[in-house]
Amino acid sequence: MMLVSRLAAGVAGGNVRLRAAVLAVMALAGVHAAAGTSAPGDSAGAGDAAVRVQMPLANGWHFKQAAGLTGVEAPQFDDSGWDQVTVPHTWNRIGNEGYERSPESNNIQGTGWYRLKFRAPAAPKGSHYFLQFDAVSTVANVWLNGHFLGRHEGAFARFRFDATAALNPSGDNLLVVEADNTRPAPGTATANVPPLSGDFFMFGGIYRNASLIVTRPVHIDMLDFGGPGIYERVSAIQADAATVQITSRVTNNDCKPQRLRVETAILAADDKVVASTTSDAGPIAAGAVSVLQSSLNIANPHLWNGLSDPYLYRTVVTLRSAKGAVLDRVSQPLGLRTIKFDPDQGFFLNGEHQYLKAASMHQDRPVKGWAVSDADQEEDFAILADLGANATRLAHYQHDQRSYEVADAKGIIVWAEIPLVNKVSFDGTPANAAFSANARQQLLELIQQNRNHPSVALWSIANEIDLTPTQVKGPSRPASLLKELNALAKSQDPDRPTTFADCCEVEGNTQRDPIVGLADTVGYNRYFGWYTGHFADLGPMLDKAHARHPRTPMSVSEYGAGAALTQHSDDPNGGPINPHGRPHPEEYQNLYHEASWAILKQRPYLWGAFIWNMFDFSSDSRREGDLTDVNEKGLVSRDRKVRKDAFYFYRANWSSQPTLHLVGRRYVDRAYGVLDVKAYSNASQVHLSLNGQDVGAAACADGICLWRAVHLQSGSNNLQATADIGGAAVSDSLQWTYAGKPGEVHIKAGDLTGYVAADHQRYGSDMYFSGGEGKGVNPPDTASEKRVNVEAADPQLFNSYRIGTFSYRLPVPDGKYKVTLRFVEPTASAAGERVFNVSVNGKLLLKKLDVFAAAGGKLKGVEKTVNASAHDGALVIEFAPEKAEAVVSSIAVMPSR
Ligand code: GCU
Repeated sequence: MMLVSRLAAGVAGGNVRLRAAVLAVMALAGVHAAAGTSAPGDSAGAGDAAVRVQMPLANGWHFKQAAGLTGVEAPQFDDSGWDQVTVPHTWNRIGNEGYERSPESNNIQGTGWYRLKFRAPAAPKGSHYFLQFDAVSTVANVWLNGHFLGRHEGAFARFRFDATAALNPSGDNLLVVEADNTRPAPGTATANVPPLSGDFFMFGGIYRNASLIVTRPVHIDMLDFGGPGIYERVSAIQADAATVQITSRVTNNDCKPQRLRVETAILAADDKVVASTTSDAGPIAAGAVSVLQSSLNIANPHLWNGLSDPYLYRTVVTLRSAKGAVLDRVSQPLGLRTIKFDPDQGFFLNGEHQYLKAASMHQDRPVKGWAVSDADQEEDFAILADLGANATRLAHYQHDQRSYEVADAKGIIVWAEIPLVNKVSFDGTPANAAFSANARQQLLELIQQNRNHPSVALWSIANEIDLTPTQVKGPSRPASLLKELNALAKSQDPDRPTTFADCCEVEGNTQRDPIVGLADTVGYNRYFGWYTGHFADLGPMLDKAHARHPRTPMSVSEYGAGAALTQHSDDPNGGPINPHGRPHPEEYQNLYHEASWAILKQRPYLWGAFIWNMFDFSSDSRREGDLTDVNEKGLVSRDRKVRKDAFYFYRANWSSQPTLHLVGRRYVDRAYGVLDVKAYSNASQVHLSLNGQDVGAAACADGICLWRAVHLQSGSNNLQATADIGGAAVSDSLQWTYAGKPGEVHIKAGDLTGYVAADHQRYGSDMYFSGGEGKGVNPPDTASEKRVNVEAADPQLFNSYRIGTFSYRLPVPDGKYKVTLRFVEPTASAAGERVFNVSVNGKLLLKKLDVFAAAGGKLKGVEKTVNASAHDGALVIEFAPEKAEAVVSSIAVMPSR
């Protein structure tokens, strides 16, 4: 028997393969592993066999996605023509590369039916049977052998039904599940189930594990909002002692009152018992649940100290009959730690200040959608840890248990959340009773199922709860529900602060409830330089919010930018980004994060900053970058195969691991022969060579190392970077090609990704400029049917422009050049409204140019060619307005033959 208990310890240590083996062994031995039931040192021999059994219900399901089916729950229903599937499962498939939705996509939101024939494991007479679903999306109706067991509303929490009355312990059983993920609207089954909407796809199905759990009639409660039935509360921690209160809920499903003994033990990581207590309980009336308290003292407590030392104890509660037989045993992780959120100084773990450097995560993968495995979740946390993050936001809903377990084991602080997203009703009115009740249920499920995880530091009760009212400029009344949920969280778990993420705080708008301050802390979701404004707007906005809410600890709960792996820019400052469309050059995401992190790290009053998002994720409202149905603000691709450049910016800033990453490896075929080379590194300096030639060393600041104006060679360019980081030699390399010819430069002004003209001449994106602003004749997110076209032989060469007072310094060898400038008048409605001069190397070559007049009107292309000489390796073209602002759409420079 000792073998079994060591295996149980293995499970607590998070070893999945071992976990599966244990489940098999214990199923064989009739012991429930997931709760880590067999506590070491428990020498109660044969009694153990009575402990609970968990049988996975994974294989052999028949499935059909269809509306309007009836009689499916009946044993005789013919499902012979249905698909055979394995659970976890979803029928949806969302998100693909390319600009069109793939024919393999399935975004049907409706009902899916599952039917499973199974036999229960052998168990002592009088055993009790529970069906457990770790999650079904969104509304689940469950039948066993034709008997309706119950309905669960909510896509993200574990739920259980007592199946004892309906189950056939010695023969075949038929389990039927109807899953409904209909898009919420008035009258749908999902109309009162948060979320009513969200920027993530609600996959349908039994997308997490399902199992049958067999217990003795007296057992730890199985029906407490899907919770483990035993709950820890660390009531005091001093250097030499810690006190832990354990609440155990015991259910007597026997037909007569029962007396029992409750053994509560706390085990150290090496399985040694460090504290224990035994108490007699009962008689517990038949059918009653009794709540028992015990208090344990741990000498010389070893704290759970985040990344540096995520030390875990285990609490094990064993129920014994009056005769000493083991009736049930449940184990839970225990971490001893204190957390504090201070409005001026930020976050403290065990009294130590920590800036929470984090990235948020959704739970989806290509093809399998939400039906992710334990290994997937472990990989996600391994990538998060590699980034150097010390926290994560599991958005916008309860994730699978494995994620919280891994966070505990890795020492990652967790922002845990319920899916109250965007709105509380369809019409801006306060939440109705049914919706509020379900939000409370989902909050209680989140808390009861995750409160024993030391990694969880906050309960989030909402995300952008007034976004939809803001978008439709309508009323927003979420305050009453937020107050209710905040109070519920505080009463259920007084030891953790509450929070929510705000998107749209405005002052003095009477149509909308002010909400900041309704929870203990707040997070701001802000996207300056993406959806609105400029990068630099973030600092002042945060300082103002801090001043407005001096007693509310605050964080930035979302900030981020999209990045496509196949779209690139020579200079991401060159033109406007289209946040809701294409293209999303990877370089813009780099720029966004470099600028935003520089602002965030300088604000110690912030308790954390959460990058949106760790991974690209499915969202069927998105047509962005180079993907369809995907939000690509991830630092890592959805298949987890590609870490985007910005990932390494943070690794260089956040991680202590030696990091050296040359930026731009996916932009191979370069448009310009002279460019800046950048690396992200936590080295103090990095050396660069190009095709074996030394380019020199660059000092690195804030994780960025820059080599200005590196000259590429025609053809292949092998760049090699090397550095010594704390005695570790690190290197990185990439390959670029340059097909351009010396002295030839073709620029598409105001454009972010460049263009290959009708004459096959390639124009790089806007580059070498200083001053002015890049714009398009159509604002970035103009709907295609509303876009205006420029009248020209090759209209696209004129559909963007730089405007203002600006110049270009083109790095070309000294000599004579033909410079062709193309212009379009974007806005003036008459000649004379815009007049400007163009000089090259100080020589005025286009005097008092009036594009409207020259082109014969607005939105008509016109080009001017001048001859010029380059000196000191450059052609400097200056655009100086006389009236209004100067403009230019493209520049083509060719050596004069
Ligand atoms: C919001 C929202 C996210 C969404 C993100 C985005 O802030 O909370 O769910 O994905 O913005 O627009 O990418």
